[in-house]
Amino acid sequence: MADGKIYIFDTTLRDGEQVPGCKLNTKEKIELALALEELGVDIIEAGFPISSPGDFESVSEISRVIKNATVCGLSRAVQKDIETAAAALKPARRPRIHTGIGTSDYHIKSKFNSTREEILQRAIQCVKWAKNFVDDVEFYAEDAGRTDNEYLARVVEAVIKAGATVVNIPDTTGYCLPHQYGEKIAYLINNVPNVDKAILSCHCHNDLGLATANSIAGVINGARQIECTINGLGERAGNTSLEEVVMILKQHQQTLGYHTSINTKQLNPLSRLVADTMRMPVQANKAIVGSNAFSHSSGIHQDGFLKDALTYEIIAPEEVGADGSKIVLTARSGRSALAHRLHLLGYQFNRNDVDVLYVEFLKVADSKKEVEDADLHELAVQYQAVAVTA
Ligand code: KIV
Ligand code: ZN
Repeated sequence: MADGKIYIFDTTLRDGEQVPGCKLNTKEKIELALALEELGVDIIEAGFPISSPGDFESVSEISRVIKNATVCGLSRAVQKDIETAAAALKPARRPRIHTGIGTSDYHIKSKFNSTREEILQRAIQCVKWAKNFVDDVEFYAEDAGRTDNEYLARVVEAVIKAGATVVNIPDTTGYCLPHQYGEKIAYLINNVPNVDKAILSCHCHNDLGLATANSIAGVINGARQIECTINGLGERAGNTSLEEVVMILKQHQQTLGYHTSINTKQLNPLSRLVADTMRMPVQANKAIVGSNAFSHSSGIHQDGFLKDALTYEIIAPEEVGADGSKIVLTARSGRSALAHRLHLLGYQFNRNDVDVLYVEFLKVADSKKEVEDADLHELAVQYQAVAVTA
């Protein structure tokens, strides 16, 4: 791991699919799984096999078709869940069982009416059960974000000793601040004696809009896997957005020293495929994949962008497979943008012409949200007619 590789664990088909209205059938899941493999994710969490016969079938079929990525199935710390996950994963070239239990006092007391000691034993037991079927076992300490660090360290040490290859530290409720989540990972790195025998994984929810920041804080402090979804889909306010963490690591590769195997040119096409298949549109201002991510609308920005794109763009749209930068003409746009667009539309106007046209342009712009090319043609033709007769 010294080479700085960060493993990308995609859970669009499991945590993402839990979103109301986003349910997928087997055919859709297979299509997305193949696209995720093409994108370069290291692990595909294909589903929760015990949850329904349909999900069992999906995990099984995905296991059959995926060649390079690890295929993972979720389970609770329940023997039957684990056996079912193992059966669904049977055709996989690289199977992983993801099993675990809640470790915060909220879970231990309210959900399980249990004790820390009992939960520790159940954690060890579920890893041992899973190890009977596969070598690669990931343990999740649900609600680790609100779990006492000393107790969490005991659980992590015990599950690694039982054979866990990856230990997931989920901020299930999206509660942590970035420095708290980072300190939690650092605490585990410094206080779990056998931590070097496993990979620590970040699984951060977005209830406070901090999922991406928390995952990056986790990596900076020693985690080597990020669990994330395309478009940030997931329970409630969602999960960590794959495109965001991947581009943060790429953008800051020189300073942070990490890299992933993701082919970033496929981020926008895959975002659209997921949005269409799950019938869940992406918000326009979403980082990397929103329709406005490369749009420039105010006059000040447009002028700077037209002189040098780097003035207002830190990522080239083609690097993430976006259609290209857009100059959107609104009442906040300036003369440079208007002149630029008129030029693109084939009109040759000098500076004085543009000054006159700009006054007319603003009248149109104030009356609508966006000035279209058709409006500009109309303005230009009217102006040319007046200019000829004058
Ligand atoms: O958010 C969470 O804790 C989870 C676990 C099941 C990994 O999704
Ligand atoms: Zn989750």
